Order: sequence, then structure tokens, then C-alpha cells
Amino acid sequence: MNIRIATLEDIKEIKRLLDKLNESSVELLPNFFKISKVKNKEVLKIIEDRNSDFVLAIEDEKVIGVGEIYFKETKDEPVLVKNTYVYIQNLIVDERFRNKGVGKELIDGIKNWGLKRNAKHFRLSVIPSNYSAIGFYENEGFEAFMHSMEMKVSDEEFSEEYKQKTLKEMRKVFKGFPLQIDHTLNVLGYAEKIMDGENIKTEDREFISIVAILHDIGIIEAKRKHGSSDAPYQEREGKIIAEEILKEIGYDPKAIDRVCYIVGNHHTYSKIDGIDFQILWEADLLENLKTRDALNDKEKLKGVIDKNFKTKTGKGMAYREYLQHK
Ligand SMILES: [Fe+2]
Repeated sequence: MNIRIATLEDIKEIKRLLDKLNESSVELLPNFFKISKVKNKEVLKIIEDRNSDFVLAIEDEKVIGVGEIYFKETKDEPVLVKNTYVYIQNLIVDERFRNKGVGKELIDGIKNWGLKRNAKHFRLSVIPSNYSAIGFYENEGFEAFMHSMEMKVSDEEFSEEYKQKTLKEMRKVFKGFPLQIDHTLNVLGYAEKIMDGENIKTEDREFISIVAILHDIGIIEAKRKHGSSDAPYQEREGKIIAEEILKEIGYDPKAIDRVCYIVGNHHTYSKIDGIDFQILWEADLLENLKTRDALNDKEKLKGVIDKNFKTKTGKGMAYREYLQHK
């Protein structure tokens, strides 16, 4: 294994690992983190900026570990001692290579990077329930430096307990089908962005997220039972599995009916009858357009977008993603 600084050729692999890290952060702290895919330009910016980099662990020419690091100086404030430090924003080792000393090598690489810049400290934040990470950093010489504290003062905040449970069940159904999990999480990410832009009420957000997580849940069973994942089979099997999952986790029965209606019609445009269904439709299409031939024909694509997108946010995203800068 060797340690080196990332170049532009590593962008795809860096994104892969950072997306994995994002998923586990959401699992540990669902009220703080949300599913989001890292963009090329974000990685590019970090590589190109002279005060940030990715340190990579490489094995057989494959990236097996990533550290995202920034060189910083304390703010120029009268009460603060002037200091320089390296902030470790993210550190992840590919699951298959854990407990083999890769993390330690990455930290050593980061130390060298920081020492060259005259950094006096290395700093990072860690989720308090992530005991294995805390243990690892303590072994490496880190110690607690500042405790962040917070107090909940509003009931507005939603635990999204059912969303988390549904995500877990979705992963079980799609075990062995990573592309399906990937598609689902991308659609969920788009749905959440549309909800942000459309100011969807807190109490409706979890419901729409659950719809997004379950929308394709029948696809494997449709192929198994009918030898085809065509819309009618997928819709039919999907609503059965969605109902089973939601009953199992104890979700509100009225809401279950609505989820099943949307899952059971999610490929049928004429059945869209509400903002919840519309958001799923747009989120799924934002993801599916990536693979459509229509991408080559801008006029046709504009027609597809104008016909299908009704929310201002969704339409803006589709225009930005598919009709500009391409
Ligand atoms: Fe889908």
C-alpha cells in the first residue's frame, strides 16, 4: 500500500468513498446529516485549492482510503491565540480494507502534509456515538479538545424514525443489488432537495421520503415472478412489498394506503394526483434522465422536462442539470 495526494484522475474513486461515508453518517446522526451525492466540481475544487487536498491510500492501483484535509489558521480575533492547524473533514477506509492499518497510514500521510505547511495541530470532529472512530483517533494521539453541546427546544424536529427503518428494510430487499440501492438513494436525495425548495411541511417530509425509498421496491420480485421488470409487474409487486414493510415497522395505516397507491402507480403519469406523487415522479425522472437517449436531442429533452416537471424546484434542477453547460 502507498500513500499519495489525489490528482484529477482520482475523482470518481474519491466520490465513491465519500458517498459511502455520507451513508454511514446519516445512519449515525439522521437529524443532522442527509443523503447527498458528492459532485465532481466539489472534489475538483478541493484538489485544485492549495490549502486543501485528498490524501489517498492506494493498493493495487485502487483507492482504498481517503482523507479530506484543509490547512487553516485561527481567525484573527483578539481573544484567540494565533495558530495553524490541519482540519480533517472526512476520513474513510474502504470496508474491505478495515483493521489493516490503512487509517494509521492515512493519518501519517496527513501529518506529513501538515508539517510541510507548518501546521501546529491536527483537528477533527467525530460523532459521539461513533466509538470505534473515537478509539482509533485516541490511539493516534488525538484527545478531546472542545465538546459541542446542543439542546432541543422545538418539537418541530422530526425523528424520522420510520424513514430510517424503511431505509434498513430497503437495503435488505436490495441486498446483492447495489445499483438498485444507489438508484433509490439518488432518487431520495433529489426528492429531499425538491422538498427543501418547495417548503414541504415537516410532517409530510418523512412520508415523501418513505415513498422515494420504496418506489422501486417491487423490481426484484417482478423479475423473479414474471421474468420482467416492466411497469405493471413492478407496480403490482411493489405495493405488496411496501405494505408488508410498513406494517412490519408499525407505520400509520392511513399513510400506508397512500404509499401503496403511489408505489403501485409510480410509472403511470395519468395517476399523479398530489404533490407527494409529483415530487416522487420528478425525483425519479431526474435520476432516470441520466441514462436516456433523449439527452442528445435538446429540443426533445426540453419538451420532456416541460411536460413532466410541475414544481419550480424540480424544473429548475432539471434545467440546470440537463439543459445547461452541456
Ligand atoms: Fe426509480
